[in-house]
Amino acid sequence: MKIQSIRGVKDILPGEIEKWQWVEKIARNVFHRYGFKEIRPTIFEKTQLFSRSIGEATDIVEKEMYTFADRSGEQITLRPEGTASVVRAYIEHKMYNPPSVVKVYYLGPMFRYERPQAGRFRQFYQIGIEAMGTDNPVIDVEVMTLLVEFFRQLGLTDLELQINSLGCSDCRPQYREVLKTAIRGHLNELCENCNRRYERNPLRVLDCKVERDRQIAGELPKTCDHLCETCRTNFTQVQALLDSTETPYSLNPLLVRGLDYYSRTTFEVLSTNLGAQNAICGGGRYDSLVEEFDGPPTPCFGFALGMERLISVIPFETVTYSRSRPDIFIVSLGEEAKSQSFRMTHQLRKGGVTVDQDYDGGSMKSQMRKANKSSSRFALIVGENEIRTEKYLMKDMESGSQIEIPAENFVPAVKKRLAEPDDSSSV
Ligand code: HAM
Repeated sequence: MKIQSIRGVKDILPGEIEKWQWVEKIARNVFHRYGFKEIRPTIFEKTQLFSRSIGEATDIVEKEMYTFADRSGEQITLRPEGTASVVRAYIEHKMYNPPSVVKVYYLGPMFRYERPQAGRFRQFYQIGIEAMGTDNPVIDVEVMTLLVEFFRQLGLTDLELQINSLGCSDCRPQYREVLKTAIRGHLNELCENCNRRYERNPLRVLDCKVERDRQIAGELPKTCDHLCETCRTNFTQVQALLDSTETPYSLNPLLVRGLDYYSRTTFEVLSTNLGAQNAICGGGRYDSLVEEFDGPPTPCFGFALGMERLISVIPFETVTYSRSRPDIFIVSLGEEAKSQSFRMTHQLRKGGVTVDQDYDGGSMKSQMRKANKSSSRFALIVGENEIRTEKYLMKDMESGSQIEIPAENFVPAVKKRLAEPDDSSSV
């Protein structure tokens, strides 16, 4: 019986995974430098957590969640994003005690039942950051500059940071009404989706992807022209701080994001090298979400980036990321050599050397072919002759040069050679 993977998901295989590990390593490195610590929230949650935080009238909650009843009848959802879980964990574990700004990051799979296409999957990976406990615009800019620094270290250049402000609970309701009135006059020209959204979520009309709707959206009232005094000052500060770090960005008044919890600053990073799914990263401020789940007032700012999209735009041909390759491939010929090389493999690995070996007992030629295929740096040849003379041959797979390794104390001798440049000594 042949069973294939589910539509819209993909396995990450050896050969590809090294790229992911490299990106994750740089992410951890940069995030730690900015004072963020890892958090690993659970992958499934009570459905209500997502429907209440992301918003009942969003695409995610309306049609994309993987929701099921578990054996006790509880409604469970595979997380479609990480922010809600981090907020739940923050409250559950009273991470607000003692009061301080909590800075966390997470990486892992998310699940959305979307129509699969290039750059859009049903299981995809996010790296996300949440800074919880301050509404100081310094944190908005610290997080955005962290992201820019992360992208710089990945060798990425063709990216665009777009920002907007969505206002707060004081000014947004008024803006919503102004927007609805303006949309009303265009309802017969707008797509079916926008007509449906107009009552419950009129802001989403602004980021509809339908070409005709985009033109109309461009002429609708803009959030940034309807901010209250506090939000306007806040947005000006964010821009001044970004300017002071010389971070390039552009204002996009149509940037409203697809999740309901945002207020004030929102942002996205777009790649000019991706097609329709060009958002690598999105985030912003969410100042009332913690309170909505009965936590203390905790303004927050965060983002999440899509790993598949990120990996697809990194110029891997110009960066050196470590491909996993063995240091040594042991080639052994004859029964005695086989059992000896088995022990040697064990000792070398214990000594910190990465070793691979042949399991099929083929000829010298076929084992050397396997050594080549494993892209091992060296072959360690253990044949009858080598056992008799108590000297093994360590061959540089690239240059072909070889040295003798004394059987007695071979681990330090092998390690010494490994520490030398690839092509130095020859016999
Ligand atoms: P989001 O915009 O829904 O935000 O997702 C963030 C990123 O995840 C997107 O920019 C995209 O790169 C990637 N992504 C989303 N859906 C898919 C998919 N189906 N296939 C591949 N990649 C995808 C959030 O999730 C918020 N929680 C971000 C946030 C954190 N805001 C504040 N804190």
